[in-house]
Amino acid sequence: MTSINNPVRFVLDDTIIEADPALHATTTVLDYLREHLHRSGTKEGCAEGDCGACMVLVGELKADASAIDYAPVNSCLQLLPTLDGKSVKTVESLQHANGRLHPVQEAMAASHGTQCGFCTPGIVMSVTGLLQSVSRPTRSEIKDALSGNLCRCTGYKPIIDAAVKASEAAPEQLKLDDQADLALLRQLRQAHAPSADPHGQPFFAPTSVEALADYLVRHPQATLLAGSTEIGLQVNKQFARPEQIVYLGKVAALRQVEDKGAHWRIGAQVCLNDVLTLVTDDYPDFAEVLRRFGSPPIRSTATLAGNIANGSPIGDSMPCLLALGVKLELRCGEATRMLALEQFYTGQKKNALQSGEFIAAVHLPKLAAGEVFRAHKVSKRFDQDISATCCAMRYILQDGRFSEVRLAYNGLAPSPCRAPKLEAVINGRTPEEVSAVELDQAVAQSFTARDGLRASWTYRALLARNLVLQFVEEATLPETVK
Ligand SMILES: Cc1cc2nc3c(=O)[nH]c(=O)nc-3n(C[C@H](O)[C@H](O)[C@H](O)COP(=O)(O)OP(=O)(O)OC[C@H]3O[C@@H](n4cnc5c(N)ncnc54)[C@H](O)[C@@H]3O)c2cc1C
Ligand code: FES
Ligand code: FES
Repeated sequence: MTSINNPVRFVLDDTIIEADPALHATTTVLDYLREHLHRSGTKEGCAEGDCGACMVLVGELKADASAIDYAPVNSCLQLLPTLDGKSVKTVESLQHANGRLHPVQEAMAASHGTQCGFCTPGIVMSVTGLLQSVSRPTRSEIKDALSGNLCRCTGYKPIIDAAVKASEAAPEQLKLDDQADLALLRQLRQAHAPSADPHGQPFFAPTSVEALADYLVRHPQATLLAGSTEIGLQVNKQFARPEQIVYLGKVAALRQVEDKGAHWRIGAQVCLNDVLTLVTDDYPDFAEVLRRFGSPPIRSTATLAGNIANGSPIGDSMPCLLALGVKLELRCGEATRMLALEQFYTGQKKNALQSGEFIAAVHLPKLAAGEVFRAHKVSKRFDQDISATCCAMRYILQDGRFSEVRLAYNGLAPSPCRAPKLEAVINGRTPEEVSAVELDQAVAQSFTARDGLRASWTYRALLARNLVLQFVEEATLPETVK
């Protein structure tokens, strides 16, 4: 049995909790809250990150220790040892000491935002989380914040009305009361002692890239854990019980984004919400693909590097990254090498990582003068659904002709990939000369017909052609009409 062994200490409502080290390292935060701390307001619905019934807020001390940053988190997907040094707020945390409910809870009752009540704690936590960072959210921001919460009986209008009503309360009533938590988190940070002998531990959370790299060379079979949105699924649905887990979340250097002039260096532990913010101005289409990636709690934990390493054939960020010419910084021991993303995949869910090697950072180029980037994701549902197909294209249109075209897809091959035969149909042509028939021929020559759960081959092949035709047609439109 692989128990946690190292102490796991976190703050829950003015108290430091120390988890029993005999617990299995894959114990989820949800199970711990419900079964050990009896916080049964946090519910289990799907146990796969889709329904939001298990939503809690996880707080982390800012780097300067001045305040706590909160993120909504699906507690069903997170492993208990990752809470070490953090704080947690559950629906039970919200009631004031004088017995009064939090304004979000009051508004849910007053606006008839609840019926059977199973989804309600999760919805309350999502709205409360939103109101910690946005004081007067628009309906659209509220809808986005709730895109990871399912309600099967009330209907969403009264819930959104409740969120709007709650946002009108005084800011001091909305803000989480966390002064005592703040002091305790500072105490935990000061008391932090790295694991004495990581090599005997089933769960190791290094604090430097060097310690991580050294550990992986010695234990290449260890499971790397980043945002846990994939690993958490494997634990819950496939009953995976890795013997050794190495967690990237405490390596501060991996959580940094650096501006390197012509590109950004995005550390392996940077979450997708932060990548979304980073690319919003320069790559609005990429930002839109990421805004439709899972839901806010998925994006607040899932990492870009985790999406790449996971290597799903329908992984959403990869078409954008391939079209933009991303390079991966791979590290093994003390050695670092750069690899173009298009050389990373060697088959379905197979990649070029060598034993003991990991992705240290993703190098995302900035657009050069004259370059245009377009992307669009097609899925059955607008929110909280992975792609049927996503297509991304980068090009230059000069003197009326396309050049430097890079086109990439997911959903058409064993792994996300570029489409050189389709690029050849576009390069050197005017928009009017790009032919649908030639694109169809190139699709048929490039990909093997595969029907999938999310879409048939016929539909995907049609999308592959039509998304390109849409980008080509829009290439000559003024910016305001696109
Ligand atoms: C509800 C839900 C919705 C989702 N929606 C989408 C979606 O819309 N689009 C989409 O593409 N995906 C989606 N996913 C899949 C998943 O969220 C993404 O693949 C995510 O980016 C994985 O990142 P992570 O940090 O959570 O990875 P983890 O779960 O921590 O790890 C995933 C894999 O990558 C490996 N790994 C992690 N970091 C590194 C590294 N630095 N170097 C080498 N290997 C590493 C791990 O060992 C593991 O094998 C969804 C998942 C859930 C549960
Ligand atoms: S139980 Fe459904 S998202 Fe966690
Ligand atoms: S109130 Fe019943 S599921 Fe939402």
